[in-house]
Amino acid sequence: MALDEVAPSTLIISTAIVLFLSWTFTQLWPSIRLHFFLRSFPRSGLDPGLFGLGTAAAKRQFFAQGEKLVEEGYEKYKDQPFVIQTSDLPRIVIPYKYVDETWDWADTKLSHKIALLERFFGPYTGMDAVRFTSTHRDVCKVQLTSNLAPLLPHMKEELDRYLSGRLGEKDPSVNAGTFQLVLEAISHITSRVLLDDVAICRSSTWLDGLLQYPGNVSAVAMALRTRPAYVRPIIYPFLQATKNLRAGMASIQKTVDPIIAQRRADASSEKTKKPLDVLQFVLDADPHAPNEQVVGYIFFLVIAAIHTSTFTATQALYDLCAMPDVQAALREEVEDTLKETGGEWTLAGLRRLRQMDSFLKESHRMNSPGVLNYNRLLRKDISLRDGTVLPAGAMVSMAGAARSKDPALYSSPHEFQAKRFYNTNASNDKERGLFSSTAAGDSWFGHGPQACPGRWYADVQIKLLLATLLVTYDLTFPDGQTKRPDDYKADEKILPDMKQEIVLRRR
Ligand code: HEM
Repeated sequence: MALDEVAPSTLIISTAIVLFLSWTFTQLWPSIRLHFFLRSFPRSGLDPGLFGLGTAAAKRQFFAQGEKLVEEGYEKYKDQPFVIQTSDLPRIVIPYKYVDETWDWADTKLSHKIALLERFFGPYTGMDAVRFTSTHRDVCKVQLTSNLAPLLPHMKEELDRYLSGRLGEKDPSVNAGTFQLVLEAISHITSRVLLDDVAICRSSTWLDGLLQYPGNVSAVAMALRTRPAYVRPIIYPFLQATKNLRAGMASIQKTVDPIIAQRRADASSEKTKKPLDVLQFVLDADPHAPNEQVVGYIFFLVIAAIHTSTFTATQALYDLCAMPDVQAALREEVEDTLKETGGEWTLAGLRRLRQMDSFLKESHRMNSPGVLNYNRLLRKDISLRDGTVLPAGAMVSMAGAARSKDPALYSSPHEFQAKRFYNTNASNDKERGLFSSTAAGDSWFGHGPQACPGRWYADVQIKLLLATLLVTYDLTFPDGQTKRPDDYKADEKILPDMKQEIVLRRR
């Protein structure tokens, strides 16, 4: 049959089908290619199979036994990458030699941020505010860090105010749920650092609005993870979790909009002294950002800052209660420092707490905040020195928790040695002894240029909280308990017990 004999409608339909099929193939090709690439690596845990039919079972297995599966892979393939199906995506768990090779790569090649946005559905959860920018990082690394000294009195004021309200001024002894106490203390401090307006930053509407955001993002992510990729853009607006998320974001936006307008108006008047807070740092760093973008930065920092710091400080308090001798030594260090500064809480004083640096680093090592770290998404194929090619679109991680307990790296790795990193000062490895350091790659703040830019702030905030508690109280578990509680482990999470109480006895 000649072409001119074919009915025009048949021609149009055939062309549409060919175009649709080639579009579908182009869309699916990267995932098909990635799927076959991943199948070429050894694996720990269940194999979802050639057509991925066993993915749900592999995800369930990881949720229940993630830590064990990563440990087994780490032991078996120490110097080799292996694949593991986690609860969200398959990951290539890379050996440390690749971290050494890739740590200084730009995020156009290997990105922590894009990995986070993929895992937490950035386009649907508001986290995409940071996709095409580094303002959120720069603000932490530069303005926040360089203003820690003048911010410290605000931080201390919020902490003291919160603690005296929560624990009273006179009670000789108070029992408190540790996690909640720390979460509220950290939130009050951070709230003032984000927005130096005491009428707003101390209000429960504002604090609740900020604190609900991470939980709402997780709820949306959990709901979407269980649905196939192609239905997610259609269903996400109808999820109850999305509605809660949007309502919470709208309420914070409503509060911040007039403040942004006022600050922009004040910016033209040289006479007005600029407020000292992260909102102002953001407005200075990205002066033309739409208001939603400005609030997006703040929300992103809330996700990055509050729970990470809370988990770390909660674990540290459990370690202090379990080891009274360490508690006494750290208290002495704080008191000596306060004597030197004439009783004043200064940044220099907090930075002098080198035993506390070592203790916090050891507490992080013993209570790794997760099974995996160095989470990054490959944005291009990369060839490594040993000839291995890691494919574009793959998520890589390092077996952080297993590495933290590796006897080849740490002597008696299951023993808490509070001075483990303090002693390294003697060998001139000063940097490694700092809690905020990422020097030896054994850090839970990440590694390289993408390492946590808020770690100097986190360091000061956590030391301020612990030092304040140490000089005011003796810290113990309730009567009869001497051992710290076990961590909660599920999925790739390792979290401190959220129900444990501690007793704070006024000294
Ligand atoms: C103990 C507390 C904290 C821990 C354990 C922690 C941990 C981390 C880790 C592991 C990363 C990824 C780095 C990498 O993989 O190389 C990161 C990134 C980040 N953190 Fe932290 N963090 C903490 C506190 C904070 C605080 C207080 C802030 C803000 C004031 C903050 C802001 C950020 C930001 C902006 C990023 C970069 C996200 C990106 O890739 O664009 N973090 N943090």
